[in-house]
Parts: sequence; C-alpha cells; structure tokens
Amino acid sequence: MTDKKDEFDVFVNKLQQEIIEKELEDFNLYIVKLFHNPPNWGKPSDEKITISNSFQGPCGDLMQFFLKIENDKIVKANFITDGCGASVAAGSQTTLIIEGNTLKFAEDLTPEDIDKALNGLPKDHKHCAELAVRTLKGLIKKYREKEG
Ligand code: FES
Repeated sequence: MTDKKDEFDVFVNKLQQEIIEKELEDFNLYIVKLFHNPPNWGKPSDEKITISNSFQGPCGDLMQFFLKIENDKIVKANFITDGCGASVAAGSQTTLIIEGNTLKFAEDLTPEDIDKALNGLPKDHKHCAELAVRTLKGLIKKYREKEG
C-alpha cells in the first residue's frame, strides 16, 4: 500500500514539475508561483466586504474585487477571476499592493505598475494587468458614487 502511495506521489510530483517547467517557458518564476498560490484569492464573508465590483475584459475574462474600506483606507482586498494564470497573478499582485493603502493610492495605480511588480508579463499577457486595474478602478468609482 505504502509503495503504491509513494509511486503515486512521485508521479504527481513529476507531473507538477513538468507543468511548472512548461509555464516557465512563458512566465517568470514570480508569476508562476503567484498563480499557483495566489494571496487574497476568494470571496470573503459579507461582513468583511464594503463593496465589490466585477469587470469583463475585452478577452472575455471576468474579474471581481472585494474591498473592505475604512476611512478611505483599504483594510482588506480580495479577488476572483475566471481568467488565465496571468490574470490570477495580476489580480493577486494588485490586492497585495493596495492593502493598507488609501483609495487615492489605488486610484492612481496603472497596469504598468502591476506589470512592473510582476517583473514583467509576456507581451501577449500585458492586458491581464489591465483587467485587474480596470476592475479596481470601476470599484472605486462605484464606491465614490455610493458615498456621494
Ligand atoms: Fe484574459 Fe489573461 S487572457 S485576462
């Protein structure tokens, strides 16, 4: 039994290694690590959300942000997306940057800032950072309109 389990573990580890090696042909290690284990992934419980917003990018992928805001400060940021690995990394990176910062700071973020923080997305995935930033900006706009 143990032998079979060991064999299976070896098989799974080998498979994971192959998948990661394939991903590293397209993305840097930081991005690959981020999309395999993205901090702030998932919808928090309702009492932990001040406002949420979803946005569909031109590629058809959807992203959603959930922020807890106190006195114009983002105290917690979460996200989900049905997009590609790069969009998972971009969404996660965006939440990491804005947590603990002001709405104004978040409002001024650009897709280039996210791209830089990710050490550079491949050319054909730059728009994934755009998806994260546009989702965030839509949320802040919605919040400001609601607050008046
Ligand atoms: Fe659509 Fe990356 S391809 S967000």
